[in-house]
Amino acid sequence: MKRVDDEVERPNPLIERVIRDDVRAMHAYAVADAGGFVKLDAMENPYALPDDLRASLGERLAALALNRYPSPRADALRARLRDVTRLPAGHDVLLGNGSDELISLVYAAAARDGGSVLSMVPGFAMFELSAKIARLSHVGVPLRDDFSLDRDATVEALRAHRPAVAFIAYPNNPTGNLFDRRHVEDVIDAARATDTLVVIDEAYAAFASDSFVADLARHGNLLVLRTVSKSGLAGARLGYLCGSRGWLAEIDKVRPPYNINVFTQCAVEFALAHHDVLDRQAGQLRAERARLQRSLATLPSITAFPSDANFVLFRVDSARPDAATRVFEGLKRRRVLIKDLSHGHPLCANALRVTVSTPEENAIFLEALASALREILPMNAAS
Ligand SMILES: Cc1ncc(COP(=O)(O)O)c(C=O)c1O
Repeated sequence: MKRVDDEVERPNPLIERVIRDDVRAMHAYAVADAGGFVKLDAMENPYALPDDLRASLGERLAALALNRYPSPRADALRARLRDVTRLPAGHDVLLGNGSDELISLVYAAAARDGGSVLSMVPGFAMFELSAKIARLSHVGVPLRDDFSLDRDATVEALRAHRPAVAFIAYPNNPTGNLFDRRHVEDVIDAARATDTLVVIDEAYAAFASDSFVADLARHGNLLVLRTVSKSGLAGARLGYLCGSRGWLAEIDKVRPPYNINVFTQCAVEFALAHHDVLDRQAGQLRAERARLQRSLATLPSITAFPSDANFVLFRVDSARPDAATRVFEGLKRRRVLIKDLSHGHPLCANALRVTVSTPEENAIFLEALASALREILPMNAAS
């Protein structure tokens, strides 16, 4: 009898003729299997909603009309988001299935033949990956050695390539730092002269000491991208693009109808009605971030970098180019999953990224890190 697996495995020459060469050469976005691990690789909030709120949310979800399409523009949820984000008057939000979808939608709306987009490297992988999918070329401007924004190089790249869109993550992932605000402002001004839309990605706003939301009204070429993912609602998949109605109306045209399902609309609206709970959790994580950084600073051969996000980038100081990967593997053996960045951009040589979590999980991580370091470092350094 024929098995389904046999069917799937038979080479199908049509795939080659139909699927673009560059897509066939790509790898799907890799997500590590975290089953059984203390999961500190994806900047999730470790705290759940309190039990009474979960019970009340459960009742609301159960009452949803699953036989109906969701509200296409999610007016109630958008009103709530405008409110909690404190958008300037006359501005609105466009919703996406995570900010990942909104990055693709911005590109889809702006992509012209031969067009380009710009972002910093090392930076958030989707800025470049989604550009490739949209057939836009990607201009990566390297950060300086201290992870600061290279304003002059960025302005030069804007003038040389005149990209349709420039994405700036503020704070940046994976480095965790906020760039100098004046440098970002200079880049927005320079981008105006090159007809470039600047999107400031504030995925980590809940943990950051600065934001460009209040600047939206001052710049005709600025949008701000936010997400609920890092504030305790990663499973809901909701990103929102903040900006003037003129920009949003155009990008809305490439949005798939009903892209935000009924569960997400209901759950996020409910959670935002209790945003004091999420704010308190973010406050706890900011305090834990400071404690984690102090603890990392006491470990031998570790340099931890400043962070305005819910993660910390740190370097394993060693002449061995595989030191961080060995520490990462050592942590995995101890059932702790973080992110190994050492195979990416040269500025992240021997660098690892850990999500800030509860005091208990941070303690497990620190203990596992100390013992993984003892395995790889010379005796005198690790003692
Ligand atoms: C800078 C930045 N933007 C966007 C995202 C993705 O957000 P979402 O979960 O809303 O797709 C991430 C996730 O790591 C990120 O680091």
